[in-house]
Amino acid sequence: MAIRSRRYWRLLLVGFGLWIVSTKLPSLFLRISFSANTITQNNKRDTRADWNSENDGSEEKIMPLERNAFEEYAPARKGRGRHTFRPDGLVAVNPKGPHPIFELVDRAEKAWNEKLRKASTSLDEAIGEYRRRYRRNPPKGFDKWWEYVQKHDVQLPDEYDTIYHDFEPFWGLEPSYLLGLQAEREFKKDTYTIGRNADGKLDVVKTSFNSAYDQLLSTANKVLDILRDIEDELPSFRATFTPHDGPNLMTDFVVKSTLLEAASTNSYVGREQLPPIHHLGWLSACGPTSPARRIDFNLDGPRPPKPKKSFIYNHRLTMDPCLNPTLLWVHGQFVSHNMGPDPYPTMIPEFSSCSTTLHHNLRFPTPYGWVEDVFPRSDDPDFADKTDERLLWRGTNTGIHHGPRTRWESAHRDILVRIVNEVNGTIDFLMPPNLGYEDQPVENPKTARRARINPAMMDAAFVRGPSQCEEPTCSRMKQIYEYKQTQSMKDAGNYKYVLDIDGNGWSGRFKRLITSNSLVFKTTIYPEWFIDRVEPWVHYIPVQVDLSDLYDSLIFFRGDPNGEGAHEELARQIALQGRAWSKKHWRREDIIAYFYRMLLEYARLMSLDREAMTYQGEGELHMDRWSKGEAHVDDPLLH
Ligand SMILES: *[C@@H]1O[C@H](CO)[C@@H](O)[C@H](O)[C@H]1NC(C)=O
Repeated sequence: MAIRSRRYWRLLLVGFGLWIVSTKLPSLFLRISFSANTITQNNKRDTRADWNSENDGSEEKIMPLERNAFEEYAPARKGRGRHTFRPDGLVAVNPKGPHPIFELVDRAEKAWNEKLRKASTSLDEAIGEYRRRYRRNPPKGFDKWWEYVQKHDVQLPDEYDTIYHDFEPFWGLEPSYLLGLQAEREFKKDTYTIGRNADGKLDVVKTSFNSAYDQLLSTANKVLDILRDIEDELPSFRATFTPHDGPNLMTDFVVKSTLLEAASTNSYVGREQLPPIHHLGWLSACGPTSPARRIDFNLDGPRPPKPKKSFIYNHRLTMDPCLNPTLLWVHGQFVSHNMGPDPYPTMIPEFSSCSTTLHHNLRFPTPYGWVEDVFPRSDDPDFADKTDERLLWRGTNTGIHHGPRTRWESAHRDILVRIVNEVNGTIDFLMPPNLGYEDQPVENPKTARRARINPAMMDAAFVRGPSQCEEPTCSRMKQIYEYKQTQSMKDAGNYKYVLDIDGNGWSGRFKRLITSNSLVFKTTIYPEWFIDRVEPWVHYIPVQVDLSDLYDSLIFFRGDPNGEGAHEELARQIALQGRAWSKKHWRREDIIAYFYRMLLEYARLMSLDREAMTYQGEGELHMDRWSKGEAHVDDPLLH
């Protein structure tokens, strides 16, 4: 009796402990890590939480979005088999639960369908939704933009939070000061500026290059080509772009928080009111209580601890080094600058093809790498007709400069090619269940020799020869890596599984891969312009940058080396959904619609009279959806 009751109490205690750990701790963690909000956003918090709640996940660590995203994604599964959905975008695997990919796919499908279902279908609805999300009126020209969207059947007309997140801090800068920053930037080496020329046509109106003029301008010409279709609808603007692959404007956390606070109270900050920056390298962009600021940031030391097995449930959150400091150890964007540069003392409006959560470059929907379809179509047979079941990747060793003084071994592409070609040692992977046994516990990882897994499952290699290197490192690379020939598109199209990984910047080939009927495994630190318009686990498989889940995900779909536990039908379905998404959501018109809306916002932001550049149409009378929300009484929109 005594024994039994002791056991009973122990069980109860363990149960309570588990409950605390799984339900209370994560939100506690969130409250702590996002308590930076409270520095500046105390009084705005409640109203913001309201409009954020529908807005699942954002890379902005200084807003309470993630807390809501986390609640929204709180695991449905109760009890012993529950996996832990963490505030950093990862789900930690509980061996007693079923294989987590089932739940991840299920959730993602629901979230995607919900997003499609909620999409605005009229201008009034779109305006109401705009106000609900951003608490201001849309920019002037919004009605014409909506016409474009209708005419060209652009999907998900509300999902442009990326624009909002990029632009919002700049609303807190005093407009004439902001204009001055842009004008100054036009003279910065390696920039080009687009605006109207003397004839009123959009053109490259200024370049500041030293060399390689034509090559650097190739993106500019693609952008102009995209803008031709809407040229007459656009207001005047001057927009400065970097022609390089990656972002270059590092953010200071306190500067950004100060600007966001000003923006949220409809006030401005000038040059003199900017707070002093931090000198913490990359960590300067992170809030004082964020996970990154609580680790020992030493690239020669061990990486921060992680759960034994985990998957991505929110791709964007996992791209934020403030939440996932491991990224600082394993990606060329970061390790090439070691501890990181000093942040800029202000925020500078400059566009780039991609950005990270630590930079404030404005993302534009780059037309680079865009393809209408895979031609000829015979180069992308149906998933079931592809015969190679290895994971394919070919590319050059970009991502970092390879020299005696850089940590090139720690750059993402180098890590990839090294681990998938290693035959010494073992790999721990989660064994997927056979069909009909989906509810079985996933159990602890199994161990297999690399020599049995890698040659059978992986086909990733650098091509041609060492590049982006200096001696003696080039020679050393030739020894370690087996450089292969480049592949034809036709050969590449025969692989069921393909990997998409960043280079010096974002990966320009994702569009082609996701159109090719293959299942795409995507690993990146760049939340691209379409991140709110696509759904991981519905259209592609998200993979952590340290590749810790690569084998688990691949083996889930293709099975172990014998094909045991394969889920090929699901793989085929996601591959086909990816292709369908590409054809419906990433057309030339979708890029134009994004650019169009972005430039309306930009023209307003960069105007001395932002009110005059705000939409004043009919729609303002229809406040139904808007008034349902808990509007803040001081909100300027209500007066
Ligand atoms: C294989 O790995 C082990 C353990 O890391 C190491 O001791 C051994 O030298 C390696 N063997 C080869 C052939 O590289």
